[in-house]
Amino acid sequence: MNAAKPPLRLVFLGPPGAGKGTQAKVLEERLGLRQISTGDILRRNVAEGSELGRKAKPYMESGGLVPDDLIIEMMEAELAKDDAFLLDGFPRTVAQARALDAALLRLGKPLTAAVLIDASRPELVRRLTGRWTNPRTGRSYHDEFNPPKTAKIDDEDGGPLVQRPDDTPAVVNERLATYDEKTAPLIEYYRKAGSLVRVDGLGKIADVTSALLRTIGAEKGAPA
Ligand code: AP5
Ligand code: MG
Repeated sequence: MNAAKPPLRLVFLGPPGAGKGTQAKVLEERLGLRQISTGDILRRNVAEGSELGRKAKPYMESGGLVPDDLIIEMMEAELAKDDAFLLDGFPRTVAQARALDAALLRLGKPLTAAVLIDASRPELVRRLTGRWTNPRTGRSYHDEFNPPKTAKIDDEDGGPLVQRPDDTPAVVNERLATYDEKTAPLIEYYRKAGSLVRVDGLGKIADVTSALLRTIGAEKGAPA
C-alpha cells in the first residue's frame, strides 16, 4: 500500500501552438515536474548573446530547426539534473529522439510517456498570432483565449509581455511546415516504442489539463 509512484518523465510532442508550454506550466505547478523547454533555453541564450544563442538565432528566426548536435549537447546536461521532468519541444527530430533514448538509458531514467497534443491548423495559427509571452519565464497568454488581467503585463511577476519574433504569419507557416517534415515522424517513432499517448488540444485550457492528467494517470497528484 502507498508505494511511492515512479517519477514522471514526459515528452510533450505537438505542433507549434498546440499548448505544450501552457500545459507544461500547469503540470509544473500541480505536480512539481520541472519543465525543460528547449525553445525557452534557446531564447534565453539569444537574449544573452551567448555562442549558442548566436548560432541558434538565424534558424529560429526563419522557422527552421537548430542543428541536432547543438541541441543534443545542451539537453544532455539538462537531463542529468532531475529525476522527474517534462520535456517541452525536445526531441524534434528522429536523431534527437535516438540521442534522448541513449541518454535516458545511460542515466537509468526510462521515459513514462510521449504525449501528443494536437489541434487544427487554423486554430494553431490563431493561437500563435495572438500570443503574448513573458520572455523571462516563458509563460504564454493570448489576446482572446487566455488574456492577462492587465493587457501586456504578466499576472505572476508584473513584468512586460512581448510578441515572439517568430509568431508572425510568415514564420508560423514555416514552423508548421518544419513540424510536418521533421517532427511529425516522431509520432510513429513513439507509437512503435509503445510510449505514445494522445490528448486533444482543441478544448479549453482547463479541459485539456484534465484530459492530460487523466491520460498520464496523475489526477490524484493534482490539488483541486
Ligand atoms: P518553441 O519555443 O518550442 O516553439 P514551438 O514548438 O513552435 O511551440 P510553441 O511554443 O510556439 O507552441 P506551444 O505548443 O508551446 O504553445 P503555447 O502553450 O505557447 O521553439 C521555438 C524555436 O526554437 C523552433 O522554431 C526552433 O527553431 C528552435 N527549437 C526549439 N527546440 C528545438 C529542438 N529540439 N531542436 C531544434 N530546434 C529547436 O500556446 C500557444 C498560444 O495558444 C498561447 O497564446 C496560449 O495562451 C494559447 N493556448 C494554449 N492552449 C490553448 C487552448 N486550449 N485554447 C485556447 N488557447 C490556448
Ligand atoms: Mg512553447
